Amino acid sequence: MDEILTRRLRLRRAQPSDLDALHAVLSHPTATRYWSTLPHATPGQTQAWLAAMIAAPSESSDDFVVELEGRVIGKAGFYRLPEIGFILHPDHWGRGLALEAASAVIARAFARFEAPELTADVDPRNQASLGLLTRLGFHETGRAERTFQLGDEWCDSVYLALKRPA
Ligand SMILES: CC(C)(COP(=O)(O)OP(=O)(O)OC[C@H]1O[C@@H](n2cnc3c(N)ncnc32)[C@H](O)[C@@H]1OP(=O)(O)O)[C@@H](O)C(=O)NCCC(=O)NCCS
Repeated sequence: MDEILTRRLRLRRAQPSDLDALHAVLSHPTATRYWSTLPHATPGQTQAWLAAMIAAPSESSDDFVVELEGRVIGKAGFYRLPEIGFILHPDHWGRGLALEAASAVIARAFARFEAPELTADVDPRNQASLGLLTRLGFHETGRAERTFQLGDEWCDSVYLALKRPA
């Protein structure tokens, strides 16, 4: 099953033709403010990112593009289990769409994989992501300083986890 339908969204595997829509997200300075890379400066950067997403092995990856009304607006899932990742274009923030997408990929990950918990690594300044993860039931497990460098800026991490439901 390579597709998940939720109330408003279709989550499906990425394909090469998603390049323009994903570049619109990954080149957006607001969307990528606390992302693991600087905003993509060229479609080539997004193409490499997309190729890695498409090629990721199904035993360790369960990642989806997020479609709203037939248009790709972001991604949600696990590029490498058990760590969750999500990003939506800011035009669609604040409508519960990330909650809808993340809830679906989490339920599927627990159903398909034996992971005892799912994890997240978030910049402590990323209030939207921390709020979403808290709403999903994740709890903080630790913090670390200067975990990755974006351009000239060192960023910190909050680590979170969601245990497999009993
Ligand atoms: C994080 C992100 C996916 C949230 O998307 P969204 O569709 O706006 O989120 P939702 O509308 O589904 O919100 C669900 C819950 O998340 C929390 N939340 C969302 N935005 C928030 C904000 N700006 N501040 C605090 N909490 C927020 C709230 O608890 C919200 O529930 P509520 O509306 O009932 O209060 C979006 O902001 C995004 O793409 N950010 C950039 C990418 C990113 O940083 N990804 C994570 C990297 S670790």
